[in-house]
Amino acid sequence: MAEPKPKTTIKLKAKDTSPKAQKSSSGPTVRTGRKPRAIPKKGEPLIVAEYLSKAFGKDAFALDDVSLEIREGEFVSLVGRSGAGKSTLTNMIIGEERLTEGRLFVNGWNVSLLKRRHIPFFRRQIGVVFQDFKLLSRKTVFENVAFALVVRGAPHKQIMEDVPRMLALVGLAGKEERFPHELSGGEKQRVAIARAFVHRPKLLVADEPTGNLDALYAWEIIEVLLKINELGTTVLLATHDRDIVNRLHRRVITLDGGRLIRDQEVGEYVL
Ligand SMILES: Nc1ncnc2c1ncn2[C@@H]1O[C@H](COP(=O)(O)OP(=O)(O)OP(=O)(O)O)[C@@H](O)[C@H]1O
Ligand SMILES: [Mg+2]
Repeated sequence: MAEPKPKTTIKLKAKDTSPKAQKSSSGPTVRTGRKPRAIPKKGEPLIVAEYLSKAFGKDAFALDDVSLEIREGEFVSLVGRSGAGKSTLTNMIIGEERLTEGRLFVNGWNVSLLKRRHIPFFRRQIGVVFQDFKLLSRKTVFENVAFALVVRGAPHKQIMEDVPRMLALVGLAGKEERFPHELSGGEKQRVAIARAFVHRPKLLVADEPTGNLDALYAWEIIEVLLKINELGTTVLLATHDRDIVNRLHRRVITLDGGRLIRDQEVGEYVL
């Protein structure tokens, strides 16, 4: 299926004159529900959330009035206790969860207005890593990573070049023919990261990627994410691992009861 062509372009600031919108800083150029034509310049906002709320029932807010901006090239940890709203926010950012109120712009897409039929195209431009790996058990390591390129219609030659390069990057060279059940937890997560990054997304969202791993292997996964960040991809890491966050010395956004209570440029895990 061909990807839809970009159609309309709007400026974030121009349209909304509500008091909430007037409080916000200037946003990126966005396109409504269509594939963006131009990639934003380095350092431009990649994620802009304005007064985001998510209610799962009457008065039960998983996210409550959250506003934030994440720029290209950043490595951001999203922290908070269990139930703080980390997964709700990351799921919204990857187009998996609809928002109840507010506006959300990701990679030039107005996610708040995203039509259901456009979600697959939006999702293809983002890399996503979960705690439970979500590998295809009947496919080899190579095939798991290649699959991400196959669904994007990549030519065979590119697959044969990019997959080994990506497996080398995550430290899995030589394990191409193994099946997921023949790998350690850390190795499985490396496959998942290679699969999420092989199409070189501008944004990689990882929700508790180290949640199933021992501390030593957990940090190795973070090192892979740092490497990916050095290559220019923005990384959003949801975690409640205090040691990792404190060792990272990067930006930390803290959620508590669905509210953003802290946003530090070089932060620590404080809860
Ligand atoms: N589908 C749902 N239906 C109802 N309530 C939900 C749903 N998903 C999440 N919630 C609630 O929203 C709140 C935030 O959940 P969320 O999964 O975002 O937390 P989290 O910070 O990711 O927690 P954890 O560290 O345990 O992964 C919780 O109170 C949770 O019970
Ligand atoms: Mg979670």
